[in-house]
Amino acid sequence: MIEDDKRRAAQAAVAEVRDGMLVGLGTGSTVAFAIDALVRARPRIETVATSEDSARKARAGGLVVRDFADVAHVDLTIDGADEIDPQFRAIKGAGGAMLREKIVAAASARMIVIADASKRVATLGAAKLPVEVLPFARAFVAARLTALGARVEPRNGLSDNGNIILDAHFGVMADPAALARAIEEIPGALGHGLFLTEVDAAYIAENGVVTRLERGAASG
Ligand code: A5P
Repeated sequence: MIEDDKRRAAQAAVAEVRDGMLVGLGTGSTVAFAIDALVRARPRIETVATSEDSARKARAGGLVVRDFADVAHVDLTIDGADEIDPQFRAIKGAGGAMLREKIVAAASARMIVIADASKRVATLGAAKLPVEVLPFARAFVAARLTALGARVEPRNGLSDNGNIILDAHFGVMADPAALARAIEEIPGALGHGLFLTEVDAAYIAENGVVTRLERGAASG
């Protein structure tokens, strides 16, 4: 059921894609359905990917994937989320791609989150908050995150950028904006999974029904 909802949300978002667009591909199991839908629909588009995994899936399906290093503007990005609240604030990064995801989202004229309804929350924070960290700064950043109130767990392996990821468990976040600012002030913390302003719209599927939510507008 959840897999079917992910697929439906992904297909609804892909219906926004038009010929000529440069499309940002997020990362994760829901985005995999969006890549499948794009591969089947075959619009005349180019893409950029937020992870090696999504780039591989897109290329395997025959999509053109450009090097984001050559790109300053993306028309539409479709990405998943781990949590999204009523203010369109999200936690992302369970897949470890949040640094590239945030850069691509910032470059995008429109950023859409696709998710099954389990990702909707009243308040952010039950999900772990991933923080990408320069390996040199591992212990220092972990100590700073602990001082901010997190239980910190290092992840195995490296990000696509060759950095480590610390999963910070904060619990319910009373002030996500203040927390984001505090993390951004830690030298060596290169990125985190709080997306507070980037999300323009969300397609959320529940029991086979997709709801489109637009920031600053009624749902449609
Ligand atoms: C990748 O780093 C993440 O931001 C994903 O977009 C997020 O974890 C959602 O993934 P799923 O669609 O697999 O739940």
